[in-house]
This record gives sequence, C-alpha cells and structure tokens, in this order.
Amino acid sequence: MTHAERFTLEWLSQPADFKSQLIRDVRSGLIAKNRSLPSIYFYDDYGSELFEEITRLPEYYLTRAEAEILETHADNLIAAFRPVEMMEIGAGFARKTRILLDAMHTEGTGNCYVPVDVSDLALKHAGDSLTAAYPWLKVRAYVGDFLSDLHRVPRSGRRIVTFLGSTIGNLPPDERPRFLAEVAESLEPDDAFILGVDLVKDEATMVAAYSDAQGVSAAFNKNILTVINRHLGGDFPLDAFAHETRFEPDGMCMKQSLRALRDVTVHLTDIHLTVRISEGESIHTEWSCKFTKESVAAQLEAAGLTVAEILTDRQDRFALVVATR
Ligand code: AVJ
Repeated sequence: MTHAERFTLEWLSQPADFKSQLIRDVRSGLIAKNRSLPSIYFYDDYGSELFEEITRLPEYYLTRAEAEILETHADNLIAAFRPVEMMEIGAGFARKTRILLDAMHTEGTGNCYVPVDVSDLALKHAGDSLTAAYPWLKVRAYVGDFLSDLHRVPRSGRRIVTFLGSTIGNLPPDERPRFLAEVAESLEPDDAFILGVDLVKDEATMVAAYSDAQGVSAAFNKNILTVINRHLGGDFPLDAFAHETRFEPDGMCMKQSLRALRDVTVHLTDIHLTVRISEGESIHTEWSCKFTKESVAAQLEAAGLTVAEILTDRQDRFALVVATR
C-alpha cells in the first residue's frame, strides 16, 4: 500500500455545523456582560502553526516536560496495555504521538492511529507525515469537536485513548465532568486513558509560559479575532487589543484574555451584529487550568475511572495520569 492508501480523513460533524456553532458562540459570547470567546477558535491553520511555535519557546515548559515522561515510560505503558489502536484527542500535529507509536511498533501490539482534532490541516499534516515515516502505520483521522463527537469514532480493537498537552485545561471547568464521563463511557474494560496535565507550580513560571518574550502567545491569542473576522465578515482591529494572562488561585487556572486599549465598535456584517467595547474591557479567550496529583485523580475517579498510575517528569512540572474504567 502507498502511504496515501493508509490514511483516511473523515468529518464527524458537517462543516456547516461548525459555522452555525461559531455563530452561536460568538453572538452569545460577545453580547454577554462578561464577554468571552471559546478557545477552540484559535485553531485555524495559522493558529495551529502558532501553537506549534509556542511549544518550542523557552518559557513553554509543558511540551518538553511531557515528552520527557513519554520517552521514559512509553514502552512500559504499551507493554502493559497492548493496544491495537491509539486514539488521540486533540491531536494537533501529533509530534509527541510518535513516541507512543514507536512503542506500539516495537512491542508489536498494533498499527493503527486514530487522531481526532478540530483542525483538518493539522490532521492532514500529521497523517501525511506519519504514514510516510512509518510504512506499517494506518491512520484513520477524524475532524470534530472532542466534547460532542467522541462517541462517533469507530474502533478496531483494544484502544489507548490519549489526551496530551494539558489540553483538558482548556475546557471551562464546569464542562470537565461531562467530558471525562464521555471518555469513561467510550472505554472498554481493557482500554486505557492517558491524560497529560500541567501541575500547579510557582506563579511566575506559569505566567511566563503564557506571556513569552517573543510575543508568540500574544499573536496566538489575537488570532481568534482574525478567525472571527474571516468567518463572519468582521472588522475587529487587532491593534486595539492587548494580550493578558493571569493566574486565578481559586480554580487553579491560567486565564487568557484580550483587553481593549481604546473604545472600539466592531461590526460582524454576516450576522448583523454590532458590538461596542469600551477601553479597559476584556474578552476572556482561554482557560488553561492546572492540577495537583490529588485534584486530577479525584476528578477522574468522580467520572467513574480508576487511576492506575501518575507519572511525572524529574522536576515535577507535569503529570501523565494513566486510568482505566
Ligand atoms: C493547547 C492546551 C496545551 O493551554 O497550555 C498555549 C494552549 N495557549 N499558550 C495550553 C496554549 C496559550 C495550550 N494547550
């Protein structure tokens, strides 16, 4: 088989649904008293590339800490669960994935990779490069929203489900239980769930990870306005907003927002919406919640999962939690 024949890509929901959801989200988010936009809309093609750039920044320790854990433990994890396929939620460009796929191949357990992501470009990129690099690999990719579409992903056998990068921290905290319950429900008794979470640490380290010196995090945050402008005929002036990030100890969350530097009137012509935003007002754009080993274990157990192991990097910055049903 050529590498193209080993790679399929399907939409779990229609692109039309994406557009109507975007309209609902933007309308309700912008007219609310506390304005907000869902962080899922960062990830158009350019946003996915900016995030890739973030993972290489000196301040953004998360990706390197998680890779260290995977490199140390992947072989043992695969040998223990012997998955036929690996389903990855929020796969992005799937770079860290290779560590687990390599282990699946070495241990001879399976040859199927099932990435689910909101960005079809990221999935195409991942599918093309992975099938080209691994002549034994089959990739079944699905474009969709991991909050609502997960149960629609067909399975071919015993599975590990991975959700890496602390992407779970992006879910609004009140949506987390429902998401974890869906993951739990999708697991068969021999499956395993491998969840990457960033651990609470000193505030300066966390804040720096979301406000790097080169301004990539700021560009990433502002890209949500570009995405909205493009899809809804909008005229958000990017230069009228400043990137902001802060740690909220109560929910253990980093919160990113865009603060208006002057009064702005935004027209979203495609949906006939005009929004006036005053100087100093902010639009909340992203949660990046943090965890302790205890808090993540408690949340998984509450969803009906059993925590088998919690693995951390040498500096205890990041954790991989291994759970079963
Ligand atoms: C994609 C969830 C891993 O929240 O740390 C990075 C996204 N946002 N910088 C995170 C992000 C700003 C990132 N994750």
